[in-house]
Amino acid sequence: MEKFVINGGRPLVGEVTISGAKNAAVAILPATILAGGRCVIENLPDISDVLVSLQILQALGARVRMLNRSTYEIDTSRITGTQVPDDLSRQMRASYYFLGALLGRCGTAQVAMPGGCNLGVRPIDQHLKAFSALGASYAVEYGRIHVDGGQLEGAHTFFDTVSVGATMNAMLSAVLAKGQTVLENVAKEPHIVDLANFLNMMGADVRGAGTDVIKIRGVASLHGCSYSIIPDQIEAGSFMVAAAITGGNVLIKNIIPKHLEPISAKLEQAGAAVEEFDEAVRVYRTGDLTPLKIKTMPHPGFPTDMQPMMTVLLSLAQGTSIITEGIWENRFRYVDELVRMGANIQVDGQVAVIEGVPRLQPAPLRAPDLRAGAALVLAALAAHGISEIEQIQYIERGYENMAGKLQGLGADIRRVQTAAAPIPQAL
Ligand code: EPU
Repeated sequence: MEKFVINGGRPLVGEVTISGAKNAAVAILPATILAGGRCVIENLPDISDVLVSLQILQALGARVRMLNRSTYEIDTSRITGTQVPDDLSRQMRASYYFLGALLGRCGTAQVAMPGGCNLGVRPIDQHLKAFSALGASYAVEYGRIHVDGGQLEGAHTFFDTVSVGATMNAMLSAVLAKGQTVLENVAKEPHIVDLANFLNMMGADVRGAGTDVIKIRGVASLHGCSYSIIPDQIEAGSFMVAAAITGGNVLIKNIIPKHLEPISAKLEQAGAAVEEFDEAVRVYRTGDLTPLKIKTMPHPGFPTDMQPMMTVLLSLAQGTSIITEGIWENRFRYVDELVRMGANIQVDGQVAVIEGVPRLQPAPLRAPDLRAGAALVLAALAAHGISEIEQIQYIERGYENMAGKLQGLGADIRRVQTAAAPIPQAL
């Protein structure tokens, strides 16, 4: 196991290139199963969730070949199994996308039931609602969810809650169903649009992705294609906050500025300057940080996955900020770690009240999950002195080469070996 050792207090300066989006990749990789042919997927982030997805594809009979560090060829002509091995599916919550993809292609699938996790209860009732509407049945046996449907028939589903996962799983299961599927009250995140674009590139007929209603006309078969995944909105946002919190000046490259608007708007309100270019943004500080009110919401609202980073930033603003978590019931657990660094934050349920302090103190820290772990890295970069962050395997599930990219901006961060090897929890 490794930990980060960070000697904070230096402004980050320079350029950083953002990798492909994790939450698009973990849906697009299972979607290659629907092609029944050869796909080349580019701009894949080099993170553990992608490696696990590729291992699952191989276990199901797909041929996977690395063309370069971010490009893989995946041939799903022959799928030899419909049961995702439990040890692999448990390493990654997003393994539930194999349910929709296998159901769509093979009419049946079995995946270990995704448990709750440290963001709170994470039900999949809306995924199952969409599968049932298409004519599939499901059962939970020995900790595994089985879905069976044979030839699915297009149907109408109105989701009770806006869910990224349920929207994508419904799309995966419906593209090869007979007739038209209408999905209402769907999520609109950039990765929903990316999955729709990929499915359409394979010959599917998916319209409306990015709006509240997605219409899918089932097609008889799909084919392979080449596709490049969108840049990671949250990795970009994390580097934007890193520039602002250290008083630095960073050009963040290979991004889609439109995807960053909810983050850019809040950073500007907090006292950072954000200059937009075609495929880059430059972020620097113009003065002291000012307090904000933020509520996390589905896209195009402020993303929940940026909430921990904003809490860290606002813990150094002059005045009182309020952050309301609107998606997850338990996403403030990392606040204890920030309080140990001298932050003044009170959490009551899904609301955090942050009284800004002039500085954070270095401390030994533990990453409780992926995004909170990234937020602690930012806190350590801002705190003058040496902090150590353990359990960085969580961070590495979603950030490619975080230490290397920060070093490129002048950060004093090292990845060093530790003794203990805790088992990562699924996110
Ligand atoms: N929900 C239900 N029933 C369902 C599905 C969701 O009640 O069947 C609820 C959840 O409990 C939650 C809300 O709906 O309160 C939204 O959940 P959603 O399904 O949108 O989340 P997800 O698909 O499980 C993805 C990302 C998360 C991100 C959320 C929200 C992936 C692999 N994960 O999760 O990303 O926080 O959308 O944007 O795409 C991360 O990257 O660190 C991460 C946790």
